[in-house]
Amino acid sequence: MSHEIDALKSQALAELSGSLNMDALRDLEIRYLGKKGLVAGLMAHMRDLPNEQKPAFGQQVNDLKNLLQDKVAALREDLKSVTLLEEVNDPWFDPSLPGTPEPRGALHPLTAMAEEVEGIFRRMGFIVPDYPEAESEFFNFEALNIPGDHPARDMQDTFWLKDGNLLRTHTSPGQVRAMREFAPPFKAIFPGKVYRYEALDASHEHTFHQVEGLLIDREVSVGNLIHSMRVLLSEIFRRDVKIRLRPGYFPFVEPGFELDFECSVCGGTGCSVCKYSGWVELLPCGLVHPNVLRAGGLDPAEWSGWAFGLGLSRLVMMKYRIDDIRHLMGGDLRFLRQFA
Ligand code: FA5
Repeated sequence: MSHEIDALKSQALAELSGSLNMDALRDLEIRYLGKKGLVAGLMAHMRDLPNEQKPAFGQQVNDLKNLLQDKVAALREDLKSVTLLEEVNDPWFDPSLPGTPEPRGALHPLTAMAEEVEGIFRRMGFIVPDYPEAESEFFNFEALNIPGDHPARDMQDTFWLKDGNLLRTHTSPGQVRAMREFAPPFKAIFPGKVYRYEALDASHEHTFHQVEGLLIDREVSVGNLIHSMRVLLSEIFRRDVKIRLRPGYFPFVEPGFELDFECSVCGGTGCSVCKYSGWVELLPCGLVHPNVLRAGGLDPAEWSGWAFGLGLSRLVMMKYRIDDIRHLMGGDLRFLRQFA
């Protein structure tokens, strides 16, 4: 049988070498290597052979198949460069004509802002771990000093999952996860998507972005916290920004603060984004509550810390003067192209 294989090999190699263009090459490839091609046809002879000759025959046919596949691939490459050369040498070829532009994507403003905030904190030595969006009730509430009957649970209406877990209502569950993961002292930020089952308006979405910040060390002070928040905001806005600090209540910090930002959509005169107050709630923060340190496995007598929960979606709105938060996740390309 091997003379048949040899004959087919010589015939195929001769024909392939004579193929002058891609179409001819493709036709020959199908003729020899296609599912019902001549090489596959050789296999049909297998059943007429005595058993002891079958393996060697199969091997020879396979070798032929591999040889021809390599030959086709090499010829295809050759033809490509010949075609290119022909095009370039064509007297009508004009290399000064503009090419066909490739459509280019761009980062979503939320992604760009998250990367900018990450960059600022990485330069200050912060690490950036990632935590789950489907979270347990324990990490989202209990570990943060919000037991089941605590009224603070109503502050964040929750999407519950069928398995008893929930979509995290804030990035704060990462606090206790980080304390359990890293040895103190450490500093970390964790940006991410959060979800709340709430009424929508110009400044409230059901799905929005926060960046949590956490610093754990010995003898951390409120002064240290306020300084870091000022650095963050002045790096982002690259100008002096008007902020105000007022007491704020969150069960997981003590003392807690609300850091408000002068509404840059209206310049502080009042609009639908700031609900006509001139100020936007942007950055709640405070010193980590001892119960939260304990839940993270840290001794409050030895360790302390500060934490903040930056409303990233609102930060994007302030930076680009966007008058409705729903534009951000609306998926309208006309809106998004403005950031390309
Ligand atoms: C919290 O989520 C706390 N976990 C923040 C925190 C962290 C406090 C660490 C202390 C220490 P709050 O519910 O206020 O807090 O949300 C934080 C920020 O997210 C708000 O200031 C606001 O900028 C933004 N935000 C809240 N709700 C929405 C919403 N529905 N749509 C868009 N942004 C929102």
